[in-house]
Amino acid sequence: MSDKKIVIEGGVSLQGKIKINGSKNAALPLLAAAILSDDDILVENLPHLRDISLMLNLLAHLGSEICFEGYGSYLATRGKKVRISSKSINNTEAPYDLVNKMRASIVVLGPILTKYGKAKVSLPGGCAIGLRPINYHLDALKQLGAEISIRNGNIIARAPKGLTGAEITFPRISVGATENIIMAAVLAKGKTILHNIALEPEVINLVDSLNSLGAKIEVSGRTAKITGVKKLKGGKITVIPDRIEAGSYAVAALITKGDIELIGINMGVLAPIKEFLERLGAEVTKTKKGVRVRYIKSSTESIAIKTEEYPGFPTDMQAQFCALLSICGKESSAEETIFENRFMHIAELSRMGADIEVKGNRLNIRPVAGLSGAEVSATDLRASMALVLAGLAANGTTEIHNIHHIDRGYEALEEKLRNCGANISRK
Ligand code: EPU
Repeated sequence: MSDKKIVIEGGVSLQGKIKINGSKNAALPLLAAAILSDDDILVENLPHLRDISLMLNLLAHLGSEICFEGYGSYLATRGKKVRISSKSINNTEAPYDLVNKMRASIVVLGPILTKYGKAKVSLPGGCAIGLRPINYHLDALKQLGAEISIRNGNIIARAPKGLTGAEITFPRISVGATENIIMAAVLAKGKTILHNIALEPEVINLVDSLNSLGAKIEVSGRTAKITGVKKLKGGKITVIPDRIEAGSYAVAALITKGDIELIGINMGVLAPIKEFLERLGAEVTKTKKGVRVRYIKSSTESIAIKTEEYPGFPTDMQAQFCALLSICGKESSAEETIFENRFMHIAELSRMGADIEVKGNRLNIRPVAGLSGAEVSATDLRASMALVLAGLAANGTTEIHNIHHIDRGYEALEEKLRNCGANISRK
């Protein structure tokens, strides 16, 4: 864990280009999917992030062979390409010290169980944004025939004769449960029908990749029909660009009254936030290589954002918009409907002069004339980015502590911002 801090001298209008990396949240299930095949899987466009290293460590712990293509080591690759061979898996247990560091490790449960008929995975705890239970994952696996018990903090799952297809309705849309159960159903006997699935681009990236390896998954509306196959073949799968990284830098352009071209992202996945950026004074245009976000006018609009499942406004962009709304537009509101405790950044933004009132799961944000630099503390990944954005726009110096959170999701953050003129460093 890094005890360094990020130091920003605010007030620079950012101008330039930022290359958008592969998506963390798409890459994690794609890496877990490699468990399903005995043949080599080449995963391309991996971001170089702490969470990705943790997932690769977990796969190596299970016995997968991991080989970084083209370079000598993972550090040198800056992510990009890794070849995974899972035929050597000799362990079906994901222990506490690995799962505890990253709760998304739970996506290995479905693949291990369906492939090997048993799995023992440490039960992930809550985190700074909510309780984050995994009951939908476990209930759906039970409906596929798994026996599941919780003992000594571990999920013990068994399906000695394999899983069997079933018709399952998720009580609520869940990205992780959709991914876990689709992967489990791919090697189950017979047909599985999943209702009320998540349709986030990261889920579709997984579905398309599994189909390219021989899975039979059809998605229609919020229903997935999966016909189990005996095995998956090897092949190449590619991580989609990170729409949340792109969205975060789009906010950086607007909050600093700047002009940034986001290279490698397409307009489609930014649609849920585009209208809000425009109403808050940005021009958002498609370019040959991506999307350009340019400040054009100061806005007097009042915005109401409400986080929802895709294609709604992403919860992973709520904190960054709080930073933006604290100095942009007219009095605005934000409602968080996905996680019960995702307002930890508010107290920190208030320390920088933001005027934000919290009422249950709603915020009233009254824009102030300017933020002022302060010492603040990052509480989770997206909250950290909100503080970086606030620091870029603030007068004076902002020091952000607890920055290990930001390394989970933003590759080369300082370098990318510095290339656009920001005065930002790690000390
Ligand atoms: N939920 C349950 N039971 C379950 C599963 C989910 O009650 O079994 C609840 C959650 O507590 C939450 C809601 O359902 O209130 C939706 O959670 P979801 O399962 O969709 O979230 P997730 O899969 O745990 C992923 C992303 C998050 C992102 C959410 C929502 C990954 C690794 N994580 O989490 O990303 O916020 O979907 O879009 O894909 C981030 O990147 O900063 C991040 C937190």
